[in-house]
Amino acid sequence: MYKAFYNLKRNPFEITPDPFFLFPTRRHNEALAALYYGVRRHKGFVVMTGEVGTGKTLLVRCLLQLLNQSDVAYAYVFNSRLSPVEFLQYIAGDFGLNVAGKNKSELLLTLSNYVISRHQKKLTTVLVVDEAHHVASEVLEEIRLLTNLETTNEKLLQILLVGQPELDEKLDSIELRQLKQRIALRSQLLPLNLDETTGYIHRRLQLAGANSNSALLFPGETIVRVHRHSRGIPRLINTVCENALITAYARQSRSVTPDIIEDIAADFRLGVVHEPKVESANGNEEGDARRAAKTLLLLHDYLQKLQSSHGEPRAAAATGASKHEPYI
Ligand SMILES: Nc1ncnc2c1ncn2[C@@H]1O[C@H](COP(=O)(O)OP(=O)(O)OP(=O)(O)O)[C@@H](O)[C@H]1O
Ligand SMILES: [Mg+2]
Repeated sequence: MYKAFYNLKRNPFEITPDPFFLFPTRRHNEALAALYYGVRRHKGFVVMTGEVGTGKTLLVRCLLQLLNQSDVAYAYVFNSRLSPVEFLQYIAGDFGLNVAGKNKSELLLTLSNYVISRHQKKLTTVLVVDEAHHVASEVLEEIRLLTNLETTNEKLLQILLVGQPELDEKLDSIELRQLKQRIALRSQLLPLNLDETTGYIHRRLQLAGANSNSALLFPGETIVRVHRHSRGIPRLINTVCENALITAYARQSRSVTPDIIEDIAADFRLGVVHEPKVESANGNEEGDARRAAKTLLLLHDYLQKLQSSHGEPRAAAATGASKHEPYI
């Protein structure tokens, strides 16, 4: 609704990952290059991790766009809560193979034959697993077995594992150490710094048609606030900026002012993030232990004070404590 008012041809801050809007920070460039190089050079396993909303799926889409133009077939899994058999069925189906009524070993055979026959024709085959942090360890083990398809100097199936930082932790686990050793390339996406956030916002506005108006629409101080509240996470930057444009339009303002960003950050409760509660095995044991430690510290302080004011020896002070209960 604000597009005509701000002379924009399209919405600049959609949250769907659209390669058209790629802003190539150094990290995003390096990560995309690693994905591309890994596939092109048949490196086998490539892993990319990054916090929620930092652009992983966007980069996968950019890669698939680059690969589409060439002799590459890929299966793209984004529903990672599958059992091993469902997973194999899914990827075989995505490669266009017949999966009807096949059991696990038949599926593996079908997939192997497919990958080998493509290799013989000098074609590349890629498996992309997005949201890989959700993938069960048994499925990751199946994936590792698929990488056993290899010649002496290259892998026949290229596998990209993409996920949130929990994926790194998962890959560190002892049961997945064989998989971890097979990773050829790894990259990590990070939130944007202030300069990158500035470039990011202007680039999106310009691609949407704002041209030289972008600095008027989002002045420097406004971007400082966007960066502060979004912590440089692109998805949050988009949400804040999209809502800021709507508010600025409602106020018929030609510029998004810093106070608009403050209002939106408060509405979206951007400063509020609850850590997950750690439940100990024995109820609230941890909280009890912490309270007990605090009580002991207060008691200790109290006894110290008592001792220094009366010059009494430690044992006598302790006796005094029972008469004068400290307020805890
Ligand atoms: N470098 C970038 N250039 C342009 N847009 C970006 C960039 N990085 C992220 N975005 C945008 O941020 C939003 C979130 O990106 P994306 O969905 O790829 O994040 P993600 O890392 O896959 O998140 P999740 O962990 O939730 O799956 C999208 O709108 C995407 O287009
Ligand atoms: Mg994603």
